[in-house]
Amino acid sequence: MSVQVSGVQASRGFQVSLGGRTVMVTGASRGLGAHFAQVLAASGARVAVAGRKKADSEAVCETIRAAGGTALAIALDVTDRASAEAAVAAVAAEWGRLDVLVNNAGITTTTPLLEQDEASWDAIMDTNLKGAFLVGQTAARAMAADGKGGAIVNVASILGFRVAGQVAAYSASKAALIQLTRSMALEWARHQIRANALCPGYVETDINRDFFASEAGQALIRRIPTRRLGQLADLDGPLLFLCSDASAYVTGASVAVDGGHLVSSL
Ligand SMILES: NC(=O)c1ccc[n+]([C@@H]2O[C@H](COP(=O)([O-])OP(=O)(O)OC[C@H]3O[C@@H](n4cnc5c(N)ncnc54)[C@H](OP(=O)(O)O)[C@@H]3O)[C@@H](O)[C@H]2O)c1
Repeated sequence: MSVQVSGVQASRGFQVSLGGRTVMVTGASRGLGAHFAQVLAASGARVAVAGRKKADSEAVCETIRAAGGTALAIALDVTDRASAEAAVAAVAAEWGRLDVLVNNAGITTTTPLLEQDEASWDAIMDTNLKGAFLVGQTAARAMAADGKGGAIVNVASILGFRVAGQVAAYSASKAALIQLTRSMALEWARHQIRANALCPGYVETDINRDFFASEAGQALIRRIPTRRLGQLADLDGPLLFLCSDASAYVTGASVAVDGGHLVSSL
């Protein structure tokens, strides 16, 4: 009743492996996306590291290769259909086909709603929602064309379910992304394509570490039932689950990885 998941013990007696699979992670030049790319490569996948700055993606690829993995840097602006098509074609040219897409690219601003300007609203929606649609549709067309299907993981957020101050556009984009995920699951099941949303809570990274050390940050942590922030490694199991055949009968789901933050007391 045990199984290796990238060196981590899990239960149930089947092997979770991405060996032989190809995966593209968008927005993988840094942050969660760079971590996801490394975790997927460590579990055996050949990983396309896609981001706007190819040099940054190449640096992530070097880290993956140094650890014995296989990686390909790809230039991709998720808001641009031609760029999405070129990225999916580049994976096919290198490795034959794309098996798994992780739509991770995302942006936000911290802005009171009364002061939200149209340009930043559009940028957030274009990246977080339209970007997932454009890359997702392009990947799904390719996955459907050869009849083999695949898996899509849309990286949403617990802010797709609840709200916080000054992130209205971001929250709206993630709520819509969760609903888009359900539509992908419904319409593309006939093509053997699964689509699920990974919904992280607050994850400690270099960017927010100082805030969470402050009094306001500590107060926020006290509202998380498990009384701690998420660590990048907390996302590994759910990510590998949704990308692999371990979730072969799971589609249209939203998996919150948040220490219970969504069920905090009102
Ligand atoms: N960090 C958290 O606690 C947390 C919690 C919940 C959900 N999330 C979600 O997780 C995802 C990653 O977040 P993060 O914290 O890792 O953010 P991050 O460090 O700011 O990284 C965002 C990534 O997206 C890329 N990107 C932005 N616009 C893009 C575009 N148009 N085309 C292609 N790539 C683009 C960025 O690359 P360039 O700008 O260099 O192109 C970068 O690689 C996002 O969807 C975010 O909403 C994060």
